[in-house]
Amino acid sequence: HRHLLGIEGLSPGDITLLLDRADEAIEVSRQVEKKKTTLRGRTQINLFFEPSTRTQSSFELAGKRLGADVMNMSVASSSVKKGETLIDTAATLNAMRPDIIVVRHQEAGAVHLLARKVDCSVVNAGDGAHEHPTQALLDALTIRRNRGRIQGLTVAICGDILHSRVARSNIILLQALGALVRVIGPSTLMPAGIERFGVEVFTDMRQGLAGADIVMMLRLQRERMNGSFVPSVKEYFRYYGLDSEKLAGAAPDALVMHPGPMNRGVEISSEVADGAQSLIREQVEMGVAVRMAVLEALAGHLPNR
Ligand code: CP
Repeated sequence: HRHLLGIEGLSPGDITLLLDRADEAIEVSRQVEKKKTTLRGRTQINLFFEPSTRTQSSFELAGKRLGADVMNMSVASSSVKKGETLIDTAATLNAMRPDIIVVRHQEAGAVHLLARKVDCSVVNAGDGAHEHPTQALLDALTIRRNRGRIQGLTVAICGDILHSRVARSNIILLQALGALVRVIGPSTLMPAGIERFGVEVFTDMRQGLAGADIVMMLRLQRERMNGSFVPSVKEYFRYYGLDSEKLAGAAPDALVMHPGPMNRGVEISSEVADGAQSLIREQVEMGVAVRMAVLEALAGHLPNR
């Protein structure tokens, strides 16, 4: 593959290969000397139209650990603010001859569009409510390292499913590797027809969590709710917030995940987020490794120019 635009289109073999490569990248990242030369002489541009803490910084570290020159485009201070379009911005950056552009954009499909307009490899770092492929890969890596497998596990994804690219990418990936996926949330935050994806749908959190091996919590994405239903925080936490009592209904050794950013006291209690069953910090470490794996996999397809 020349680009990574989504989990859709990857085979189970492609996914497993990336996870195996990421396992190796963890070893590199844990050494004192963290540098490889796979991307030496190559240029990587991170172009983020939406805020990011984890994804942008881990793509930057991943590129640098592979020897690339990494440039972070600050959209807030760029000519996008003067009305330059996505396509003109892409053409401008393309003229600087990058080898890889990592893009986050608020519109679903924007990253696919950009990939058709540039000569280099493009990685989707999140496009609207569509896909966030490296998040799903890092989640799968975290699960696999803690459970030894994905096949046969019951994974409950809880919260604002409607606006979540993380949920969408995870549903596709986890099912491709043989997990049983449940989605839990209020019906107002559940996409119409989601059953067609082959997931079990629950509006009652206790029923949905019963016996789950992995509990994956999602943030309420208020930035995508413009004008539509926005739940009250207190009510939401009462019914859909993960606290110790609700977690006790999952499998006894259930593991808790959250892609971040977390809103403590809204979708998750601090006690659970910082508790013994939480993998949230480990997910962040896996994020750098997975991005190294993705960049390395693209290295073999980079244009020779
Ligand atoms: N999980 C995730 O994408 O986090 P950021 O928005 O901080 O990159």
